Amino acid sequence: MEITKFAVPEIIFGRGSLNYAGLCARRLGAKKVFLVSDAGIEEAGWLQRLMNILEKEGIEWVYYPGVTANPRDFQVEQGAELYRKNGTDVIIAIGGGSPIDTAKGIAILASNGGRIRDYEGANKVQRALPPMICITTTAGNGSDISQFCIITDVERRVKMSIITRTLIPNISIVDPLILRTKSKTLIIESAVDALAHAIEAYLSRIASPFTEMHSLKAIELIVGNLKDAVDTRSLDALEQLSTASVSASMAFSNASLGAEHALAHSLGGHFDVSHGVLHPILLTAVMRFNRKYAVQKMADIGRIVLGEQLGSDLDTAQAGIERLDQFFAGLEVSQRLREVVEEEEWRYMEAICKMAVRDACNLTNPGPATWRDFLKICEEVW
Ligand SMILES: [Fe+2]
Repeated sequence: MEITKFAVPEIIFGRGSLNYAGLCARRLGAKKVFLVSDAGIEEAGWLQRLMNILEKEGIEWVYYPGVTANPRDFQVEQGAELYRKNGTDVIIAIGGGSPIDTAKGIAILASNGGRIRDYEGANKVQRALPPMICITTTAGNGSDISQFCIITDVERRVKMSIITRTLIPNISIVDPLILRTKSKTLIIESAVDALAHAIEAYLSRIASPFTEMHSLKAIELIVGNLKDAVDTRSLDALEQLSTASVSASMAFSNASLGAEHALAHSLGGHFDVSHGVLHPILLTAVMRFNRKYAVQKMADIGRIVLGEQLGSDLDTAQAGIERLDQFFAGLEVSQRLREVVEEEEWRYMEAICKMAVRDACNLTNPGPATWRDFLKICEEVW
């Protein structure tokens, strides 16, 4: 086995773990924290809950509310300005991927300066970041665990992948009770994102035994529990999705992703489409493209989603991909690109595919994907 590394934050997991946020902040030396969240979390009451918890520990805060879905470069830069002006010491993000990625971007600029686009790609961040606590309110995006941060460059209309070990927060708090206030759509979008993370990390060229076991467990838990979680809102099923999300995140943070995420970033950045909407459209098509490079690993995935091995690895791999298509169909989500993108927008597709080739996630795809390959995939799922 080649030399490998596996980095994860301290993870506080379980029902009611949000209550430990104040103690965690104090442990990191917080006197005045910089809070990042969004309107949905405010409305659901979780932000106020967190403020009360901090207050109990005698910790002050400054709140930055300027976060939207698909966070933008200027929002990160405004946040960093506010961080610097207020003499805050610890950053706490509560929310899904958008507030957490914004907070990570703010942390980069707070200690490294410059524009956020200066850090696009892998390992461009030189100086240590302020201490960070991430409290995820979804089971899927994994930003609370990962060394990834995805920010949209408004001018170029592209999602930048910023990847560096210092983006792993000090502490990640995962409280499955929060999932109970989430809509069916959000639970599905988050879970299929985690499923894409698990599968792409498993197939990644830099996967290791440490990431592979987490990938496979995550696939099993998501396929086995998502339907039940959205139909019944059973806390047990929601908790399994949280476990799956943590596992998938530990896997992809260390093994990175692949061509599907590269394309999803380019499409999402250009059309401002929610990240989780794109996976049921793209994932199986990219798996079909990758099948020739990774038959055995595809068969491992097939065995998990089918619950059995068929005659050959190729048969198992193929049937597994088809079963995933059925799984997405059962969730009643879009499986065609034209359902989420206007017909006349097709003219941008070549440029989008050329952008996807340059995304850092494409580097770890099991086989090289050219812009023509991406375009073929887009035609197939149109
Ligand atoms: Fe993702």
